[in-house]
Amino acid sequence: MATERGELFSEERSAEVVAASFAEAPDPRLREVLGSLVRHLHAFVKDVSLTEEEWSAAIAFLTATGHKCDDVRQEFVLLSDVLGVSMLVETINHRAGGVGTESTVLGPFHVVESPPRPLGANIALSGEGSPCLVTGRVVDPSGSPIGGATVDVWQADADGFYDVQRPDSVPPANLRGLFTTAPDGTFWFRTIVPRHYPIPDDGPVGELLAATGRHPNRPAHIHFLVQATGHAPVTTHVFAADSPYLDSDAVFGVKPSLVRDFSVVEDPERAASLGLPDRFRTVDFEIVLLPSP
Ligand code: BEZ
Ligand code: FE
Repeated sequence: MATERGELFSEERSAEVVAASFAEAPDPRLREVLGSLVRHLHAFVKDVSLTEEEWSAAIAFLTATGHKCDDVRQEFVLLSDVLGVSMLVETINHRAGGVGTESTVLGPFHVVESPPRPLGANIALSGEGSPCLVTGRVVDPSGSPIGGATVDVWQADADGFYDVQRPDSVPPANLRGLFTTAPDGTFWFRTIVPRHYPIPDDGPVGELLAATGRHPNRPAHIHFLVQATGHAPVTTHVFAADSPYLDSDAVFGVKPSLVRDFSVVEDPERAASLGLPDRFRTVDFEIVLLPSP
C-alpha cells in the first residue's frame, strides 16, 4: 500500500515509510536499490526479532571490519566473499550461457601490473613444489582461436601462500605471469602445483567463521584473467580435481566446469624437451570468450 505523505513510522509499516523517504531521489537506480535494501533489511529484523544486544554486536562487528581494512587488506570484500555475495554478483554479471568459460571470484591477491612473460616461461621463481605444465587455448564460441589474447595468471605456492604474503622469503612476482596467446590461440607455461590455503582469517571475518564452525580454506586453484579485443573478459580459476575443500570452498567459488585433473606425466623425453624433471604434472584449460556485449 502506498504511503500517505507525512505518514509516521510504525512497526507494521516501517519498511514502506523508510523506503518512501527515498522516493524523491533523482537517480532512479539509487531509488530502486535503496528501496529494496530497506524492505529486505526491515523484513530481516522482523523475521529474527533482532534484540538490542544483537544489533549492538552487529554494529561492533562492522566497526571492527572497517578497522581491519587498509591499503592491502579489504575485510569488507572478504565478508562479502564468505557470505557468497561476491560470487553472486560475479555470476549474475557474467552469465556464460552454457557456452563461455564460467567466472569466479577475483580475490585479493591479483596485482594490477602483472609481469609480462614469454610463452613457456617458468613462473615458479623459487621454492618447493611439484613441477607442472599448464597448457591451454583461448577460443571464441565457434571454437575459432583467439590469438593475441592476454592470459594473466597467479597462484599460491606449495605452502599455500601468495608472493605478497611472504615478501621477505620469495622474489616479487613469484607464481605470476602475463602471457599473450599465439596466433593459434594457445598458451603454455611452467609452474608448480598450487596448494589449498586458508583465506586471511586473523580478523573479524575469521571470527565469524570460527563462531559458526566454518573452516577458512579454499581448494587448490590457479587464477586466470583473460582478455581479448572484441570479447568480454573472464575472471576465473582452474581447480585441481584432487584438492581438499572442493565441496566446501570458504568463498563458494567452485563451479564444476572449472575443475580439471592435474595428471601425472612420466615421459623423460618430453620432460627433457620442456626443461622439466622426468615426472611432472600437467593440466589443460581451454577458455571460451564470449563476444563483447
Ligand atoms: C583467492 O582465491 O585468492 C581469494 C579469494 C577470495 C578471498 C580470499 C582469497
Ligand atoms: Fe586464490
